[in-house]
Amino acid sequence: MIPPKVLSEIEALRAEIREHDRLYYLLDSPKISDTEYDMLMRKLADLEARWPEAAAPDSPTQRVGGRASSDFKPVRHAAPMLSLDNVYNEEEFRAWNARVEKILAPGERPAFVVEPKIDGLSCAVTYQNGILVRAATRGDGEVGEDITANARTIRSIPLLLRAAKRRPPKLLELRGEVHMTFEDFEKINEAEKKAGREPFANPRNCAAGSLRQKDARVTAQRRLRFYTHSYGVCEGVAIASHSEFRALCSDYGLPICPAESFRGAEDVVRYYGEFKERRLPALAYPVDGIVVKVDDYAQQNRLGFTAKSPRWAVAFKYPAQQATSTVESVVFSVGRTGIITPVAKVKPVFCAGVTISSVTLHNFEEIERLGLSIGDRVLIERAGEVIPKIVKVVSERAARRKSGITPPKSCPACGGPVVKEDEFVAFRCINPSCPAQLKRLLLHFASRAAMDIRGLGEAVVDQLAESGRVRSIADVYTLVKDDLMKLELFADKKAENLLSEIAASRKRPLAKLLYGLGIRHVGEKTAETLAALYSLNDLASAPADELKKIQDVGPVVAASIAQFFASKEARALVKRLAEAGLNFRKDESTAGGTAFSGKTFVLTGELSTMTREEASAKIRSLGGKTSSSVSAKTDFVVAGSKPGSKLRKAQELGVRVIEETEFREMIRP
Ligand code: IVH
Repeated sequence: MIPPKVLSEIEALRAEIREHDRLYYLLDSPKISDTEYDMLMRKLADLEARWPEAAAPDSPTQRVGGRASSDFKPVRHAAPMLSLDNVYNEEEFRAWNARVEKILAPGERPAFVVEPKIDGLSCAVTYQNGILVRAATRGDGEVGEDITANARTIRSIPLLLRAAKRRPPKLLELRGEVHMTFEDFEKINEAEKKAGREPFANPRNCAAGSLRQKDARVTAQRRLRFYTHSYGVCEGVAIASHSEFRALCSDYGLPICPAESFRGAEDVVRYYGEFKERRLPALAYPVDGIVVKVDDYAQQNRLGFTAKSPRWAVAFKYPAQQATSTVESVVFSVGRTGIITPVAKVKPVFCAGVTISSVTLHNFEEIERLGLSIGDRVLIERAGEVIPKIVKVVSERAARRKSGITPPKSCPACGGPVVKEDEFVAFRCINPSCPAQLKRLLLHFASRAAMDIRGLGEAVVDQLAESGRVRSIADVYTLVKDDLMKLELFADKKAENLLSEIAASRKRPLAKLLYGLGIRHVGEKTAETLAALYSLNDLASAPADELKKIQDVGPVVAASIAQFFASKEARALVKRLAEAGLNFRKDESTAGGTAFSGKTFVLTGELSTMTREEASAKIRSLGGKTSSSVSAKTDFVVAGSKPGSKLRKAQELGVRVIEETEFREMIRP
């Protein structure tokens, strides 16, 4: 029996922690530090460990350490999760409004609720009698994936609806956006880079990766957030408008995004402009537009739906975000193949949630196209997915103080000779032992798509190259524990981990090694084609004339390969890698007789158990080829949910179409 005093202490701690979660995540105004919060959590966890009878599924301690889901089971949504139609400018928005007004009675101008369009992942979260029972990704809109264990770790999703003015609905299937702040995104990427992993491209991808973790403890560390924006089903509580729904969410302790109410399209148009100028730049999380919703449910019902979206709401999107700044200097960065890329250093400017201080200029032709000089004021653009670019020069620096940008005569990293390669508009450092190239090459060699050596990330590579201990890829395989322990970053365990990763990489398929060598124009696909036909030693002595006859290779690639292996450095490298015991054998699975050998696959639609990239990689690893378009040469079209026009084309051409289940059978080991 738990003494009543202990029980009430446990209850009080739970209530206190829930309140701090609310202050932190909902109101954005924490009253205690992270450490104090952790102390409260620890105290609660200790008490619960001592008094297991007091355990409760909705205790804040259950967020972390909850059972990790080993796979994501399919979940059918209680009602389909639709998407929104987009408009991109005032004219299109007015046209949308005119359609709304036409369907409603004459002169009936609807009230709108306007919310930010959060750039995250749509999720359905289900509460039964106020208790969180399930969370699912959107999937194809009908069926998503069960991510309950992971969603439980998101502290802004209440495990239990707060006792509100009204009883919680019997069944409430909420929809909302799982997202991440720019600040958390940058912290995670720093950590990813340190651990030698590829950083995420943007907060949305990072949130998606974090939500689909097999281990919920990883999700728990990612500080994901949630905003409720709509619902699929609400049984047992009557609601008459979206603003009432929002008020109800607030009462229940559910996070809702900020919103404004307007009547009439013109006020919304004005707000759209204002929001972009004033509010958007200050937001902590990515937003790519506003969502305009007709408030009144009776009006919503009269407006109804099209096949895939409601007529009563629209996403009024912003174009890629732009900012202006001044070019202070141009520096030159040296890539893995020696290519010298000009990079503009600009006065730091805040754009689309991040501070931009460097913008790649790609090559000297681009500088010419822009007519760019140092000191010019430039318009910078950053769309959600892409790296920032300079769109144009907005005002030039006074001509007499103009300073042009000329290609460097010697390599900025090693001082070695630079040559211009006409056909590629590129300047290249041709010193084979240039340290900047070495670092990039090592990072490429260790990357996931190549030899996948975890722990050989930027910080480690920097130290290894700078200490002079690693001067070529082959040196990686002669590293011993003492070498690593001498570096700043290493303790016992970490050194051992890296050495075992390096050892394991010796057995990688030849395609991975070939790609990792960083031969110009040899991408992943070409490496796979070559590894299926040659051992490394045979490839090293194959003449360009022979190589260019291979499908997908061609004369430029063939020449590049032959040139690479002709160099003294490459020969020495191959010899040392052989001594280190790396796998040079032709990749058998590709040459062998699997159902995939030589067959061409086209993927269409979404697969529920893997991404398209994973499916492509699997096909290629089994000896098949993948292509992005269907032709008479296609052997199989793998159709996931919502297949596109490729499916129609396959049917027209009589190409065999297989569904996901059959495909999974085929790839089963
Ligand atoms: S309301 C019928 N409100 O945008 C769908 N959606 O393109 C009603 N989104 O899948 C959704 N912010 O995940 C709504 N404030 C907001 C939103 C929002 C982001 C997402 C949502 C939806 C997608 C539609």
